[in-house]
Amino acid sequence: MKHIINLCLFFALMLFSSESTLAQNKKTTIIKNADTKWWKEAVVYQIYPRSFKDSDGDGVGDLKGIISKLDYLKSLGIDAIWLNPIYTSPNDDNGYDVSNYRQIMKDFGAMEDFDLLLKGMHERGIKLIMDLVVNHSSDEHEWFKQSRSSRNNPYRNYYHWWPAEKGKPPYRWSCFDVNSDAWKYDAQTDSYYLHYFSQKQPDLNWENPKVREEIYDMMKFWLDKGIDGFRMDAFQFASKDTTWPELPKGYEKNVIKYYGVGPHLHDYLQEMNREVFSKYDIMTVAEGAGSSPEDAMQFVDPDRKELNIAYHFESVDIGKHLKDFGLVKYKDIFSRYDNAFKDKGWLSIFLANHDQPRMVSKFGNDTPKFRAISSKMLSTFVMTMRGTPFYYNGDELGMVNIRFDNISDYNDVQTKNKYLELKNKGGDLKAYIEEQKQTSRDNSRTPFQWDTTQNSGFTSGTPWLKVNPDYKTVNVIAQEKDPNSVLNYFRRLVQIRKNEPTLVYGNYTLLDKENPDVFAYSRELNGKKMLVLLNFSAKMASFNLGIALNKSTIVLDNYPNTSKITNSTLRPYEAVILEFK
Ligand code: GLC
Repeated sequence: MKHIINLCLFFALMLFSSESTLAQNKKTTIIKNADTKWWKEAVVYQIYPRSFKDSDGDGVGDLKGIISKLDYLKSLGIDAIWLNPIYTSPNDDNGYDVSNYRQIMKDFGAMEDFDLLLKGMHERGIKLIMDLVVNHSSDEHEWFKQSRSSRNNPYRNYYHWWPAEKGKPPYRWSCFDVNSDAWKYDAQTDSYYLHYFSQKQPDLNWENPKVREEIYDMMKFWLDKGIDGFRMDAFQFASKDTTWPELPKGYEKNVIKYYGVGPHLHDYLQEMNREVFSKYDIMTVAEGAGSSPEDAMQFVDPDRKELNIAYHFESVDIGKHLKDFGLVKYKDIFSRYDNAFKDKGWLSIFLANHDQPRMVSKFGNDTPKFRAISSKMLSTFVMTMRGTPFYYNGDELGMVNIRFDNISDYNDVQTKNKYLELKNKGGDLKAYIEEQKQTSRDNSRTPFQWDTTQNSGFTSGTPWLKVNPDYKTVNVIAQEKDPNSVLNYFRRLVQIRKNEPTLVYGNYTLLDKENPDVFAYSRELNGKKMLVLLNFSAKMASFNLGIALNKSTIVLDNYPNTSKITNSTLRPYEAVILEFK
C-alpha cells in the first residue's frame, strides 16, 4: 500500500513539475488553445565559452569561468543557456570540429567542471542546451583516423569517400575551404573525402546505421547527465544525395536548396526522435531549417515528431546592414514566418549569434549617440515577438563590432581562408578587410566585457582574441550602477516577457505594414491586447495604426520619463510596449 501511495505521489509530482512554469506563475490566466511548453516560454541566453570568462589566465574562457559568473547569469532572469561546443577539439573552427564527443576540451576544463556547472545552473533554475555537431567531426577524431587509414577499415564508411580512379568527384562547394572545394584528395588511400566546412571537418556518412547508432548513444550519454536539450549544428546538411548529381547552373544563389534537406534528412530526424528525444523532456533546435517557412515547418511540425524549435536564417541573411536591406522587406520576413507557424510548430527569434556580427552594429546604430538606445530597441524586439528568444552574450551590454584593420588580428577560419582564396586570385584585399569589419564572425567573438581592469576583466593573461577597446565604457560594472543602462533595461524586459503570457503565446499581427521606419505589431491572447512600437531609424518617425492609443498604458519605454504616447510619433530608436486592459 505504502508503495502505491508513493507511486501516486511520484506521478503527481511529475505532472506538476512538467506543467509550464509560466502557466504556474500566472494561474489567473487561462491560456486557451495554446499548447504550453517550457521551451516556448524560456528566454535562452547563448554563451560563447571561449570568450565569456577565463579562470586560469591562459587567455581562453573556460567552464570554471562560467561557474564564477552563475550569479550574474541568474540576475539576468534568463531560463536556459545554449553553450557553444565544449567537447575535445583541435579548434580549427573553435570547437565545431569535435575529436571526442564524450570529453571536455582541455582549454575549457574537465568533466568535473562540467558536472559542477550543470549542478550550479540547475540549482539556479537555469537549463542547459548543448551544441551537437554531428554533420561532421574533426579529422582528428578516432573514427576519421581509422577511416582514412585504409579502404577496408571498418570505419571507412563513417565518412564520404570518392576513389581517385573514378576521376575527379562532381564539384561540391565548401564554405570554409581555401579553394571553395568540398572534396579533398587524401594520398594515403588515393581517394577524396567530403568536407562541407573546413578540410579538418570531414562530413559524417549518415547513411551508415552504425554512425547513427554511435551518435544516438553519445546523445543519451549527455542527456543522462541531465542536460536539457540540443541545438543541432548544421544538421540540415547531414543527408547527401549520394548519387552525386552535377549541380545545376546558379546553384550558388540558393546553396541551401542543393545542400540542405537531402533525401533522408527527415528520416534521420524521425529516427533520432524515436531513439532519443522522445525519452526526455527537452528543447531541440534546428540550426538552419531549409530555405522557406514550409521547409522550416517540416522540422518542427509536432505531428512529424522531429525537433521542436526552428532557427531559420532568413532574418539574418540580409547583407551587411538592415538599412541597405530595408525595414519593409525585413518586417515581411518575420510576418511570413509567423503566419506559416500560426497554428502549429514553433520558431526562435534572434538577431545575433557567434556566426553573426554584433546585433547593434547590424540592425541598429552603434555610434556613441545611438548605441545604447538602439540596443534597447532591438532587445525589445527579440523579447516581444512570437517565438523563443535566443539572446547572444554581450548584447545585453550593447557590445559592438571589433572592426580589425589587419588580417593577422582575425582568428576565424572562414575569414582567414576566404582572405587566402582572394589573395591567390589577386582580388581586392583592402575591400575585403573593409567588408569583414561588418560581416566577420570575430566581430561577436571578442572577450566579454566585465569591468575596466586590464582585458576587461576577462583574463589575467593574453586574450585569444583582442578585447574591444570600448570596454572602458561598455562593461558590466558600469552598467550595474546605472538604472537606465542597456543591461538593466534587458533585465526588465526579461521579467516582462516571463510574466506575460500574451507576449509568449499571443497572436502576432503586423501593423502599418509599409512604414519604412517603424516596426509595429500587436500581440493578443484571450481578449488581452498589447502593442509594440519600434523605431528602427535615427530620426523622429510617425506611425499610423488605426487604433486609438488613449486607452492604453505604457508597460515599458526605452526612453526614461515617458508617461504617455500622446501623438503618433516615436523618437530615434524609441521602443514602446503598450497594453490595453
Ligand atoms: C554552424 C556553427 C558555425 C560552424 C559551422 C560548422 O553554422 O554555428 O559556427 O562554423 O556550423 O560546424
